[in-house]
Amino acid sequence: MTSEQIQQLLEPIIDPDLNITLGALGAIHGVEVAGDRVRVFLEAVQPLHWIARRLDHDCKATIAAHFPNASVDVLVRERGMQLQRTPALAGVKNLIAVSSGKGGVGKSTVAANLAAALAQRGASVGLLDADIYGPSQPTMYGLSDQSMRAEKSADGKVTGYPNEAYGVKVASIGFVMQRDQAAILRGPMLAGYFTMLVEQIVWGDLDFLIFDLPPGTGDIQLTLTQRIPLTGAIVVTTPQEIALADVRRSIQMFNKVNVDCLGVIENMSYFVPPDMPEKRYHIFGEGGGRSVAQEFDVPFLGELPIDVRVRKGADEGFPFVLDPESGSLGDAFRSLAEHVVRQVRIHNNSASVTPDISL
Ligand SMILES: Nc1ncnc2c1ncn2[C@@H]1O[C@H](COP(=O)(O)OP(=O)(O)OP(=O)(O)O)[C@@H](O)[C@H]1O
Ligand SMILES: [Mg+2]
Repeated sequence: MTSEQIQQLLEPIIDPDLNITLGALGAIHGVEVAGDRVRVFLEAVQPLHWIARRLDHDCKATIAAHFPNASVDVLVRERGMQLQRTPALAGVKNLIAVSSGKGGVGKSTVAANLAAALAQRGASVGLLDADIYGPSQPTMYGLSDQSMRAEKSADGKVTGYPNEAYGVKVASIGFVMQRDQAAILRGPMLAGYFTMLVEQIVWGDLDFLIFDLPPGTGDIQLTLTQRIPLTGAIVVTTPQEIALADVRRSIQMFNKVNVDCLGVIENMSYFVPPDMPEKRYHIFGEGGGRSVAQEFDVPFLGELPIDVRVRKGADEGFPFVLDPESGSLGDAFRSLAEHVVRQVRIHNNSASVTPDISL
């Protein structure tokens, strides 16, 4: 058994998200063989621990098939990225905006459950409720009795800290003021609060920071997309034509400001009556999200059904996806999270720094 043989065995293994072989990715940066012991050094884009575990498993299984006696260690390190971050966001690896052209399509619900699903899988996650007109996340995360924790240094600099629930760090304008107060703020004040949210809150190290945006393609959305180094945006829609027109505007806005659209997600796609689980009613029409994704050549991230448990969870402050009984409905949200991670890794792979070749 030589290191060259092991290297050759490992090269055809495929990174599950990128669908590219480890060989083509240049991901194998060392193999050491000493007797029966093998050490494999891999470098991957954003190897969140479940991805590292899968690579570890695939490498070990491949080697074991040829060298059953080998004892194998796989060490996965993260490929470097050139992150341009403001000081407040220095430790944040990926910033993802959840947006929509139209109101009420389920952005906040998707953002809340996406954040919870990622945290449940072991990622470190923050959720920034950037909807300064109608903050929802304090309610959706059962934090509506909380206020913003903040401190002021001697030189007058204010630092804010997120609250936390279900392993997700949450910041919202709702922690600074009542929901009905937020709705009547105007112009410069709004801008001030918004700046505070994105520039003065210290998040620490996060794999993902999810932004729940207010609806539309107006000033706030433009300011955010220009001022924050977003990894990309997901656009939420419902299937009917009137919502799709707004999706087109959203995608065009992101294109204009050079933000990668990570995909379109269709919410409230269908209804399955609890007493007739074999039936599927397409209340708002069918296939609209998929076709608008095709039209703009962006990924389609999936369909989420309309279900009273989702609405109830949101109102009661419990992200529904965390319910152990969430079943196939929860799977739809978990699969969305997987698709998002895949698109983020694909994005980051093209933005990653090619490793130096050391001789
Ligand atoms: N898949 C779903 N099944 C059932 N109810 C849902 C679903 N998605 C969202 N809802 C409910 O629809 C309402 C609107 O959802 P949500 O607040 O997430 O939309 P939004 O796009 O963030 O709205 P806004 O534009 O006001 O910010 C909420 O009451 C929410 O609980
Ligand atoms: Mg909302």
